[in-house]
Amino acid sequence: MMAEFVNVGALCLLFTIVSGFDVWNLDQLEQAKKNGEKLITVKDLHVPAGKTLDFQGLNGSTIQFAGRVTFGYQEWRGHLMIFKGAGYTVKGLPGHLIDGEGHRWWDTLGGNGGKLKPGFAYFQLENSYVRDLKFKNAPALGLAINACKNVQIDNLDIDNADGHTKGGHNTDGFDVARCENVKISGCRVNNQDDCLALSSGKNIVFSNNVCIGGHGIAVIGGYDGGIAEDILIKDCKVIKNNIGVRVKTMLNGKGLVKGITFDNIQLQDISEIGIVVIGNYLNSGPRGQPTKGCPIQKLQMTNIYGNVLKNGTKHLVWVADDASNWIWNSKIQGGERLRPCQGIPKGVNIECGK
Ligand SMILES: *[C@@H]1O[C@H](CO)[C@@H](O)[C@H](O)[C@H]1NC(C)=O
Ligand SMILES: *[C@@H]1O[C@H](CO)[C@@H](O)[C@H](O)[C@H]1NC(C)=O
Repeated sequence: MMAEFVNVGALCLLFTIVSGFDVWNLDQLEQAKKNGEKLITVKDLHVPAGKTLDFQGLNGSTIQFAGRVTFGYQEWRGHLMIFKGAGYTVKGLPGHLIDGEGHRWWDTLGGNGGKLKPGFAYFQLENSYVRDLKFKNAPALGLAINACKNVQIDNLDIDNADGHTKGGHNTDGFDVARCENVKISGCRVNNQDDCLALSSGKNIVFSNNVCIGGHGIAVIGGYDGGIAEDILIKDCKVIKNNIGVRVKTMLNGKGLVKGITFDNIQLQDISEIGIVVIGNYLNSGPRGQPTKGCPIQKLQMTNIYGNVLKNGTKHLVWVADDASNWIWNSKIQGGERLRPCQGIPKGVNIECGK
């Protein structure tokens, strides 16, 4: 199924007009939309404060980034960029940079207060291809991948490394919700929150990605009453995150998490917990007894290896007794502080404390 929409991207390329249309400011972008341009090259472009770099209305076009894109500073809740429509090819050319200059908003509070922070980029695409983009220093949330269908995302660089020392917080790499047939591959994320936070959708693949410095790779259930089904997370590396991989369902959340596979994930120097599966999650932190209402079914954790720091924990499972059909084989070094587990389906063997 994935192969089909790759071809859509290739077709778009075939039919684009080679000359293209250069965009140095927002007026030219509006002109490009009016003209129905099929190849748009974004050069050095400064977006005025409080405005969105808005790529709606360009169905069937190729948008390529060639220069440095920057944004004026304002406290607001919008998105700095929006990509919405069908048949898009969005790509970065060598040397380009989309620079959020997030340090102007960073105050260690992220989405929890302090300055109002815009989201970095919002994608709501169908039959589209997004690749080779470099995003730097998100004000808070990085890429919102929302209600996308048949989209392939390749080789993105989401670099919020500066946030580790300058107050970056809630700088999620990819927030994926309500998508179908989406593949995210070959990306690097260095940030201060989840590398992937997937809250709903069907047939999503997250493969060959590297996550550095954040809160690991997460599937979140019961967040918007949605269903997360047929999710494959494979061949990734999680380096110096506090958590390696996790499935967390909201305390009192309703929904379903079904057919989630984590396979061949290398953990490196995880500071708190290697693998977390919990049913009592709240944004402010997990608490109390897990609740039913969003069962975790057909969960596969296979070939999860590497190390958790010695003072951390290998596994934490804390779910209600409605979980079923799990396959688990992990081989984690370190993480010697074992913690008690609860709700593990019968016959599944996971190393926990008493
Ligand atoms: C662009 O594509 C979207 C998604 O398929 C569609 O809803 C919208 O009507 C299209 N716009 C135009 C101008 O064709
Ligand atoms: C383990 O030690 C590291 C480094 O000293 C620290 O960053 C981390 O928070 C500790 N982990 C726990 C679970 O206390």
